Amino acid sequence: RIVFLNGSFLPPEEAKVPIMDRGFLFSDGVYEGVGVIDGRLVDNEAHLERLERSLREIRIDNPYSRSEWTRLEQELVRRNGMTEGFLYLQVTRGVAERDFFFPQGVAPTVTMFTQAKAIADTPAARDGIAVVTVPDRRWERRDIKSISLLAQVLAKQEAREKGAQEAWMVEDGYVTEGGSSSAFIVTKAGSIVVRPLSNAILPGITRQSLLRLSREDGIVLEERRFTVEEAYDAAEAFLTSASNFVVPIVSIDGRRIGDGKPGPITKRLRELYLQMAR
Ligand code: PDD
Repeated sequence: RIVFLNGSFLPPEEAKVPIMDRGFLFSDGVYEGVGVIDGRLVDNEAHLERLERSLREIRIDNPYSRSEWTRLEQELVRRNGMTEGFLYLQVTRGVAERDFFFPQGVAPTVTMFTQAKAIADTPAARDGIAVVTVPDRRWERRDIKSISLLAQVLAKQEAREKGAQEAWMVEDGYVTEGGSSSAFIVTKAGSIVVRPLSNAILPGITRQSLLRLSREDGIVLEERRFTVEEAYDAAEAFLTSASNFVVPIVSIDGRRIGDGKPGPITKRLRELYLQMAR
């Protein structure tokens, strides 16, 4: 296995970051995660665009141009011989004596690694998963892909301990999103409901592509918030993320969704997404 650190491709045991890295001390950094299928990065331009935005919002200079990022990502995928899985990349403000104020003249720390895993054909994608709802305990700038993920770590662990595979986070009675995914329901009339973009959620790249595919397919879209009660009563539910694409949800808080099997619209959207990715 080969990982990337500050311009070098290295074995993981040689890729070391000092304890004074601001990512380690302050979670002072941002990240991206890109799906890989058939050895190709899915929606990479959109991921790099979101990275540019995250970096700008927390005022870290982007260390690479879009074409440089792409070349490095592709090189990493190639060196690992990865055909299917996930590419993780992270930029922190760099290494400096611990002090809250931005350090001067410090280069950002850039890391990347790949994780080989099945995405196209998994038990979750075939059979669907269970989710449970938890309070959304995150900060106000969820639109930034911050490496500060403690609220999501606790939410997802709670979900696992309750026998579910994802947590749906809830604020003021409305679902915001999953611990590491965007949240969707399908109404009994067959329209898709998804929360509009705002500071309350991450602008999911898979969400964006899925909405485009749905529109092209003539599926009715309702971009609005939905409550937990509405989700319990939905015909179908699903999540999207770069690492899983489209995954059906067959139960929420132990209540069966629809007939407890992946629904037809979810299945169709998953197919459309896979076709686009390939
Ligand atoms: N998570 N919402 C949150 C809070 C996320 O962390 C993610 C992605 C998404 C989906 O976004 P996208 O479609 O761009 O992957 C939504 C990644 C996969 C992760 O942290 O592993």
